[in-house]
Amino acid sequence: MILPVVLYGNPVLREVAKPVGKDYPKLKELIEDMFETMRNADGIGLAAPQVGLTVRVIVIDVSPVKEDYSELKDRNTNTAVLINPIILEHSGEIVQKEEGCLSLPKINEKVSRHNTIKIKYLDENFVEHIETVSGFFARIVQHEYDHIEGLVFTDRISPLRKQLIKSKLIDLTKRNVDCKYKFK
Ligand code: NI
Repeated sequence: MILPVVLYGNPVLREVAKPVGKDYPKLKELIEDMFETMRNADGIGLAAPQVGLTVRVIVIDVSPVKEDYSELKDRNTNTAVLINPIILEHSGEIVQKEEGCLSLPKINEKVSRHNTIKIKYLDENFVEHIETVSGFFARIVQHEYDHIEGLVFTDRISPLRKQLIKSKLIDLTKRNVDCKYKFK
């Protein structure tokens, strides 16, 4: 089921999300709905707060951008489900790259992030994984991880850039936005 995407300005995006247990009701359906919602909106990553649930669940599907990044071609799967993820280590150089977000349609800004991170998470079967990821995949994970910590990518841009997009953010808060997917 396609869910409405929570847009910037909704306080749910500012909450620190809670860990989920195996007994979380309808977790499988939530994960399926998150994938469907994300793909419908042409996204490559989505965190549960973006569909209004303050729990630590992230879905990723890099298929649309796989050919653009060698580190994505090397991955044996296009999709990932990250439950209760923890970033154990940041390393590598700081890389600046343009990002966008389904919760901030039509806004793209350069964000600085570490190139490599070591993460620990549970998959959809509650199997624990510890993985070191780099490049674009590491960027997606860091962006989505921010969401479950109550942050959005525009929190990480310079004060000058933030000033320059201020009117866009205000329009977004007023839901004065041209957005092709359902939102709330
Ligand atoms: Ni986002």
